[in-house]
Amino acid sequence: MQTIRRIGILTSGGDCAGLNAVIRAVVHRADSHGWQVVGIHNGTAGLLARPVEYEELGLNVTTNNILRMGGTILGTTNKGDPFAFPTADGHLIDRTDEVIDGYRQLGLDALIGIGGDGSLRILRDLAAKGGIRLVAIPKTIDNDLGLTEVSIGHETAVVTATEALDHLQPTAASHSRVMVLEVMGRDAGHIALVSGIAGGADVILIPEIPYSLDRIAAKIENLKNRGRNFALVVVAEAVKTESGEALLTAHTGGKPTYGGIGQYISERIADLTGAETRVTVLGHVQRGGTPEPRDRLLASAFGVHAVDLIAAGKFDRMVAWQNRQVVDVPIEDAITQYQAVDPRGTLVHTARGLGICLGD
Ligand code: F6P
Repeated sequence: MQTIRRIGILTSGGDCAGLNAVIRAVVHRADSHGWQVVGIHNGTAGLLARPVEYEELGLNVTTNNILRMGGTILGTTNKGDPFAFPTADGHLIDRTDEVIDGYRQLGLDALIGIGGDGSLRILRDLAAKGGIRLVAIPKTIDNDLGLTEVSIGHETAVVTATEALDHLQPTAASHSRVMVLEVMGRDAGHIALVSGIAGGADVILIPEIPYSLDRIAAKIENLKNRGRNFALVVVAEAVKTESGEALLTAHTGGKPTYGGIGQYISERIADLTGAETRVTVLGHVQRGGTPEPRDRLLASAFGVHAVDLIAAGKFDRMVAWQNRQVVDVPIEDAITQYQAVDPRGTLVHTARGLGICLGD
């Protein structure tokens, strides 16, 4: 087994709350082994830059304030896949040799990559090509990675969305309105379903369950007939129009993302029921902010276990949370076993049991 002296760490993909808590945990645990930690800036973009962009991380970063901080002190990117890197003239080129060379310049014995499924796929392929000894830590507000019950950042996003419903309910009742809340989650409905149940939504729409506008309208009418003067509707961003069209928002300097389904649902409800409606699109508020205790805990357990895996010479593994424990699984399995909402699972059953309309 190769002696470990110096390990790298990078955050990749969309940021979320809890990333700094992982960095803190990794530095602490590595220090107990007498290892140096190198923080690579902006994901693989730091390894593409010349000179390579990085900083040495010592126990000075394990202050208690980074435990509480949102974002990532290392920076991140969800653009620029080095296997298909976009050039100024619109071509895609392979820049993986440069990334691997950047990694070698740092003299690292192993790498901890923190990312969601897209980033971990890229890191795994880079590791295979460049002989990089990789351990992965799952983070994504979307909670769609396989083999881990939860990923870093999901809980904080859920709390933010639940608090939004707590804020919307009184104003909905004051004005006798239907409030539509659009939440993130990419192709999975976890944030919508969990926050919708916790926040007392009347209607929850997720991409995993097809809906009919007539069913939603009937639910709103039913509430009105029972004397309720308001309603709360949560819709996951990837829900399509009733005819099956995905609604996307274009951005300068980035790929289009989901956006617009909240407005669509709001307009259709207004048309079909005559209710006064308003839309709130929660957006990146769900990604920033102070990590909730569960995200700090998960980040801490994951960071310590990731370093322990390196110490044990176990690579190509992703740390995971299963049955109240931190465990580790093959990266390959985690990224190929996408975790959508199970339409027959406990939470869907719970929502139905509460009389929440899921649109079907
Ligand atoms: O994957 C995390 C996520 O926040 C998704 O929920 C959302 O669709 C997307 O990233 C937004 O990406 P961007 O930060 O590029 O707008």
